[in-house]
Amino acid sequence: MQRNSTAEVRQQFLDFFASKGHEIVPSSSLIPGNDKTLLFTNAGMVQFKDVFTGDETRPYTRATTSQRCVRAGGKHNDLENVGYTARHHTFFEMLGNFSFGDYFKKDAIHNAWEFLTEVLELPKEKLWVTVYEEDEEAANIWIDDIGFPADRISRIGDKPGKRYESDNFWAMGDTGPCGPCSEIFYDHGEEIWGGPPGTPEEDGDRFIEIWNLVFMQYERFPDGTMKPLPKPSIDTGMGLERLCAILQNGHSNYDIDLFQYLIKHIAEMSGTEDLDNASLKVIADHIRSCSFLILDGVVPSNEGRGYVLRRIIRRAARHGHKLGLEGAFFNKLVPPLVDQMGAAYPDLAEAQASIESTLLKEEVRFGETLDKGMKLLDEAIADLSDDVLPGAVMFKLYDTFGFPVDLTADIVRERGLQIDEAGFDVAMNEQREKARAAGKFGTDYTAKLEVEGETDFTGYDAVYSDQSEVVGIFVEGEAVDKIAAGQSAQVVLDTTPFYAESGGQIGDSGYLTSASANFEVADTQKQGDVFIHQGELSEGTLSVGDKLAAHVDASRRQAIVLNHSGTHLMHKAMRDVLGDHVEQKGSLVTEERLRFDFSHSEPVTPEQIAEIENIVNAEIRKNAATEAEITSMERALEKGAMALFGEKYGDEVRVLTIGFSTELCGGVHVERTGDIGLFKIVSEGGVAAGVRRVEAMTGAGALAWMDAREAELATIAKSVKASIPDASGKVQQLVDKNRQLEKELDQLKSKLAAQAGSDLVSQAVDVGGIKVLAANLEGADPKSLRDTADQLKNKLGQAAVVVATVNGDKVSLVAAVTKAESATIKAGELLGHVAKQIDGKGGGRPDMAQGGGNNPAALPAALDSVVNWVKERV
Ligand code: ALA
Repeated sequence: MQRNSTAEVRQQFLDFFASKGHEIVPSSSLIPGNDKTLLFTNAGMVQFKDVFTGDETRPYTRATTSQRCVRAGGKHNDLENVGYTARHHTFFEMLGNFSFGDYFKKDAIHNAWEFLTEVLELPKEKLWVTVYEEDEEAANIWIDDIGFPADRISRIGDKPGKRYESDNFWAMGDTGPCGPCSEIFYDHGEEIWGGPPGTPEEDGDRFIEIWNLVFMQYERFPDGTMKPLPKPSIDTGMGLERLCAILQNGHSNYDIDLFQYLIKHIAEMSGTEDLDNASLKVIADHIRSCSFLILDGVVPSNEGRGYVLRRIIRRAARHGHKLGLEGAFFNKLVPPLVDQMGAAYPDLAEAQASIESTLLKEEVRFGETLDKGMKLLDEAIADLSDDVLPGAVMFKLYDTFGFPVDLTADIVRERGLQIDEAGFDVAMNEQREKARAAGKFGTDYTAKLEVEGETDFTGYDAVYSDQSEVVGIFVEGEAVDKIAAGQSAQVVLDTTPFYAESGGQIGDSGYLTSASANFEVADTQKQGDVFIHQGELSEGTLSVGDKLAAHVDASRRQAIVLNHSGTHLMHKAMRDVLGDHVEQKGSLVTEERLRFDFSHSEPVTPEQIAEIENIVNAEIRKNAATEAEITSMERALEKGAMALFGEKYGDEVRVLTIGFSTELCGGVHVERTGDIGLFKIVSEGGVAAGVRRVEAMTGAGALAWMDAREAELATIAKSVKASIPDASGKVQQLVDKNRQLEKELDQLKSKLAAQAGSDLVSQAVDVGGIKVLAANLEGADPKSLRDTADQLKNKLGQAAVVVATVNGDKVSLVAAVTKAESATIKAGELLGHVAKQIDGKGGGRPDMAQGGGNNPAALPAALDSVVNWVKERV
């Protein structure tokens, strides 16, 4: 066996197929140019997709490639396994040879065999082959032409009940070219667990697929039909790294020269002595996918392909951190990668500098928060009382420290813990909703602005200020000195009455005016201690340094405030009614309603809801004055203030007492509880395991909601011709009546079916004196089948009867045989005979049996077979 380097094997492959008349075609980009549904190029045939379907022609009919592929992100995400198994990669190279209507199975198999056994000199006895069960042609080529031992060929058929779904039937997608395939496996030897393909032990590591030869033979259409392709074609794929692992006498792909070169570099940089350390493998794998993704134009970002790239870079950075690598190290691996792959991919060498700088930028960005995030995570893990990391911590890591979820999951798993995905989803959905609300202003609030300092907030007791000065203006994230009418911008003031979104309370809207300008504020957000007014200049010009008057939209603010104070009262009432396990998991307070997610494992009953409402409304009527006190955390806790898990509190906290509730809160609230007016819960439901959500309304909103309910009730009363107090009695009468009518209808249907059954008597076939009848009683109630079968049997005299009825996908069956005949014709067996043809089963006594099945389409043929079945027995 040859012992060539990865670079040599790649070249040998291309040269071999060139010598067989194949055009050497460069690898295409990782971003598929002709398929919007595909995240990344994941096979050699992707760039030839349109050539196979005939939509594109090329000047050659035979091609060979070494295609760069990424399998990360999207549906098939191997990212978490990379580094911990012998064969998972985010990036790999697929060697392939292709025939576009030129040669077919015979040459494809011969070429593959010649390359493996003569060029690379792989030992023949180590190879194993699979073919599609029905593909005699391929099996015969292997056995007769190649002389491959038949007992080392596995024939793999369709998965049960699924035509053409098989490990040996390859399809590009639901439609398009497809065909049977033949795979070549390598046996890594007895000392490794696993069995040949097609055996229960096939998932072990002993027999490893190295090459897939696809015989593109059919085209599949949307209705599932398959038509032979006018020109059968060939598509093959062989993993370069797997092949080299065999040739270089290793078991793991990470043993090959290319990876060892990278691994040694990283080990040296980090002073790691154990070359088997999984983090070394992870980083060696990741530098390949990241470099090639950047080469192909992907930029780290927060969505789509860019986010996959970002996740991979951050995972590499974290593993560097684990190895004790300080600062930005990942970009320094581009030169060793170019040493290994630059000759085969000259564009990689050319783009070296720009790849390094993209990686460096992303590393620096993440480096700023990596340490802090790890610290937070370590602390959260130390505080755990069980083995599940709460979703709120995961979200914080994601949102504040840029930890992708799979990265957190990775770390948590390493420590033998689990993550609370449902809890994370709750937090994430909440943020999405906020982002959606912010999205209507066309600016990405998540983009950080270069601002420093602090805005003085005067809005606890005011909605107006004429003392504000513009200290910063930003357009699309960039600082500007001045804006003109029509421009959208973010304006920073030194002092403002506008409340910036936090603690669940949404930001204020309103307007800012100067002698010459009017700026409409659509939303207010906070970055650190700086308040950012987001909106549009509708008149004049606005410059940094201008003095302004700030007007909060007071009626909107008031509606928000009522809902916020309502939330506090409700939180307390819930703990009183449901128990102290109720903890806030999320809160959103808008001018329309309040939404509150909390820990509780079962639905809140209507009685509990009424009790909570009553308690809150009683507190409202007491009309106590709200008290706010700035104090130390210690004193706040002494006062019994509720603090929220996951919230950040400074040394000084604001303790807010509203009626019977005391909480830490920076939000704006009512002066007296009576301001809330009315409180009403309008919905209750589950959002995740152990988390419930209620929505409620206050003040005029609650009243309007109740009015709307009353109007609906009036409509119902009118349509049942009753007064409102009588309406529910009337509706109940109608429901009872309806039930009665349905019952009568069922009885009539059964009678009709029974009658249809007696008409069937004439259809019975005489088999040696026994009347045989098998019929589908359309529309019959399954419960009436037994009676019908009995009646038919009695009418027919000596008889064997099978009756069926179909309801949706379900078939019900009854077989009945007259006593004397049941000695030879057993109803149970007869029923079994029919049932097995419709994917079902059943059983019973010799004279009466019952059963069913799930394949109505097969029923007519199954019933037709009854007469012959009886004939065989009399
Ligand atoms: N296109 C085939 C595969 O991906 C060769 O396995």
